[in-house]
Formats: sequence, structure tokens, C-alpha cells
Amino acid sequence: MLSHLQPQPEDKILQLMALYRDDPRTDKVDLGVGVYKNAKGVTPVMRAIKAAEHQLWETQETKSYVGLAGDPAYGVAMRDLVLDGAVDNGRVASAATPGGTGAIRQALELIKMANPDATIWLSAPTWPNHPSIIKYLGMKMAEYRYFDNTTRDVDFPGMMDDLKAVKKGDVVLLHGCCHNPTGANLTLPQWENVVDALEKTGAIPFIDIAYQGFGDGLDADAAATRLVASRMPEMLIAASCSKNFGIYRERTGILMAISPGTKTQTVAQGSLAYLNRQNFSFPPDHGARLVTMILNDNALRADWKSELEDTRLNMLSLREQLASELRQRTNSDRFDFLAHHRGMFSRLGATTEQVLAMRKSHGIYMVGDSRLNIAGLNANTVPILAEAIVASGV
Ligand code: LMR
Repeated sequence: MLSHLQPQPEDKILQLMALYRDDPRTDKVDLGVGVYKNAKGVTPVMRAIKAAEHQLWETQETKSYVGLAGDPAYGVAMRDLVLDGAVDNGRVASAATPGGTGAIRQALELIKMANPDATIWLSAPTWPNHPSIIKYLGMKMAEYRYFDNTTRDVDFPGMMDDLKAVKKGDVVLLHGCCHNPTGANLTLPQWENVVDALEKTGAIPFIDIAYQGFGDGLDADAAATRLVASRMPEMLIAASCSKNFGIYRERTGILMAISPGTKTQTVAQGSLAYLNRQNFSFPPDHGARLVTMILNDNALRADWKSELEDTRLNMLSLREQLASELRQRTNSDRFDFLAHHRGMFSRLGATTEQVLAMRKSHGIYMVGDSRLNIAGLNANTVPILAEAIVASGV
């Protein structure tokens, strides 16, 4: 049986992680996988997480099963963090999932269960694992234009034009904030237009929000998701705690399904629990429990928010520094988009050859589409990157 297996395509981001690891150069710079690193190059355990873990160690008396959808308290805490009352709580069903990717996978399974003919519309480009999972599940997908490689901003007219082809019942996958891989985001008035278009066609928005707090702040980053929730009868949200709580390996995510009314919500809630049972049974609890403890404790929450804000501001200042270094070196404002983009990533707009040249000659690792992880930089490596960008003729 196993001899029938075919080699599977490698994930480009994870492949890059391995290439970086195997590079013996000591001055190499990792701008690949989306992991936050502080000035010392460390991905720290956040203070509030450490404190919650300590408390948990002292107080937890059982590791017995919790519930198929996870601890309801986690569902409530996350619903409030993301939606903050934008929609009647009675319309929200939710299930804890193994990370944000688990939430995306479960959302797609839910869509398949409810409407196997639905086409999933993805931004061009999007996080490569989106189309990969959709393809694996044998579902239909299509793309809408999103990023303009020349302006390095959102191609909004192109996007709106493409959304005209969306059919009733189709699902439109949108990045709630901090678009991955481009870093270019819709403004709130543009989001209003997108909702108008979805309302008109009867399509279902599916928001992937993996970087809340990494762009313009916790509330500002959730504003678009809240706006969509306040206007649409149905919606799916996949949220991740990997980045904003720094608990990547704990696999902590949540899928929320917003129904038009409470009757549908009950069936949706049951379906989410059922899907968890079929795929992995009970979701991981450790990360979700820490998140719940932090969000429900004033002191822990305040400390988490303050550390998250420092993280965000650090990324913003790296963006400013990089744009300024490039302004000086090129004597132009060509790279100012780096300061305007938000979140961990920006798409530089370099060719594959230029990306490879930066890797070979300067030990700089970015994804082949020229996505760079701003959080992989520090004040010392920014000038090195700026130099490499100019030397490679980007
Ligand atoms: C990324 O895009 O680098 C992150 O979301 C990590 C991953 O799993 O790909």
C-alpha cells in the first residue's frame, strides 16, 4: 500500500525554514516563516503566558477531557476579543481548533458539508496553504485580484470587478487584517464596498484573522471583521492565537460560524462539534486555557496587551527604518510602501532571480514570491537587507 504513495508538493514556507537551518553562514537573516522575533532574534514566551502557565501548574487538578468544541469559556473570550458585541451573541457558534490552520480546515469542511458546490474565492495572492487545503478537500476555488505589483497596494478596482463573478452561496475568503503575504490592506470604506457586493450576490464571507494586534492595534485590526459581522446574515471566522499570544506550537485557534438566527446557530454548533469529533475529537486545551485565563483576568490581560503593543510598535519602527534606509540608498520613495503596509509581512515585488540572489550573496531568506517577514529583522539587519535589495537591483 505505502509503495503507492506519490511524493507530495512541499510547502514553500516550510521548505525555506529547512534551507535556512542548513545554511552554515553565521550572518544569515531569516525573513521566511511568520514568527515574531525580538531584537535578540528570540521568539519569546510572552510574560502573561508565563504567568498563566505558572498559575495553571499550581491550580489545575485534572487533564481530563473538556468538550468537543473546547471550553465554552474560551469560545466566549475569543468571541468577545474578535467581535466585541458586533453581532448578537446568540447567533455565534464556535469550536476550538488546533491553531488557525485547524480553524480554516474545519471551516472548509463545514462549507463542504452545507454546500459542496460552493466555490471558494481567494485573494490573488493568498497564504499558500489556503488553496492547498481546498485542493486537498476537492473543493472548487477561484481567485479575485487583490495586489497590484506595481503600486504594491490593493488593486481595489480589480478586486471589485472580479467579485462581480461570485455566485449566491459562494464563499469569499478575506484576510481580516495584516494580509498574508502582501501586507497591503483594505481601508474601512473599501470593506463597506466589499460587504455591499457580498450582500448583493448572497455570498458568504469567510474571514481569516491570524494577526489581530499586529497591524494597527487589537480593536483597529478587528474593525473590518466586526463591520462584516454587523451587516451579513452569515459568516465564518477563523482566528488564531499563534501570533498575538506567541503560542505557535500550542496550536490554539477557533472557528466561529455566525448564523442568521438562533435556530440555525444550534445546528451550526452541533456541526462544529461533530466535525471536531470526526477529525481529531477533542481540540488541544493548553493554549486555549492560557488565553482564557489571560483574557478573563484584568492584570494578565493588561500585561498581555502592553507586550503585544510593544511587539506591534517594534514591527512598525522596523518598517519605518527599512523604508528610510531604502529612501536614502535609492534617492526615491519607491519603497515607502513598506512603511504603509501592516502586519508581519510585505511583498517586496522582487523577481524570483532577485530573491535567489539575495539568498546566495547576502544570506537573506525570504519566500520566493518576495514575501519578507518584517518581524525577522532587527535594527542591525535592516541596513544589511536594504543594501541587498539595492545590490540585487529590485
Ligand atoms: C506563515 O505564513 O509564515 C505562517 O502563517 C506560518 C505558516 O504556517 O505558514
